[in-house]
Amino acid sequence: MPIHLARTVTVAGLTATVLLSPVAARTALAAPGATPPAAVDAPVIIAHRGASGYAPENTLAAAEAAARLDTAWVETDVQRTADGALVLMHDTTLARTTNVEEVFPDRAPWNVSDFTAEEIEGLEAGSWFGEEFAGEPVPTLGDFLAELAENGQRLLLELKQPQLYPGIEAEVLAELAAEGWLDEETPGERLVVQSFSADSVRTVHELAPAVKTGFLGTPAESELAAYASFTDQVNPTHGDLTADYVRRVQALTGPHGEPMEVSTWTVNDAETAVEVAGYGVDGIITNFPDVVREAVGG
Ligand code: G3P
Ligand code: CA
Repeated sequence: MPIHLARTVTVAGLTATVLLSPVAARTALAAPGATPPAAVDAPVIIAHRGASGYAPENTLAAAEAAARLDTAWVETDVQRTADGALVLMHDTTLARTTNVEEVFPDRAPWNVSDFTAEEIEGLEAGSWFGEEFAGEPVPTLGDFLAELAENGQRLLLELKQPQLYPGIEAEVLAELAAEGWLDEETPGERLVVQSFSADSVRTVHELAPAVKTGFLGTPAESELAAYASFTDQVNPTHGDLTADYVRRVQALTGPHGEPMEVSTWTVNDAETAVEVAGYGVDGIITNFPDVVREAVGG
């Protein structure tokens, strides 16, 4: 049993070890004298590439699977086709998650950026995951935004490999604006744009200061204050995370005057979910939202 799930209590001279709720466990984790985690609520659960443990990643079916699991936040990856359309794909090639090799055998290495929107529209992105998903298309960003809006879901949108797509930040923001995702005074209630590229995150912040942003990675503690000028979130892989690092990020004020946040990825088992929740993270990005919810609430 992870030690932070239990606490020894003494009542009327009797000592016993009791199990703590996830929230109590996170509060109890703070060492004497240490700054307690800023967030003591259960972390927000974010479906990674949709609920991609249950449906093919980055498809409308994966967003629907997340909705069926009552998961409001959905993460996905956006890239650009040869003719400038914005489509959802994790890898920079279409090979792993579509039938592109079968349909276009002579077009190796099947880069997203070498295919037109019409060509990609004709591909099939579901049967690699399961025959029941055969025929599932590669969604455009617009398709996905419409699906999320219909389901009342929120979006953690990753600009994937933006160095391959100069200018994609402005194009993505234009699409988000056209679909009404920037209408609210605080679009961060339902939208965060993140990237592994600090330059890209900074560009998004400069182009659309109202938009909430996230940097994927683990900047050195000495660099965090600089990141706080353009990113609201620092989102590291869970293997890099410590409670102290989470506290240091959350102690800073982000560009919108709020404490910076930490969402970590990709947490697919209960034990790790309890561990990172104990560190006080604000969000957990997972392929299995139900597993994480069962472990830590949220
Ligand atoms: O949102 C975090 C996560 O998506 C980053 O990694 O490779 O799954 O895009 P990756
Ligand atoms: Ca991603």
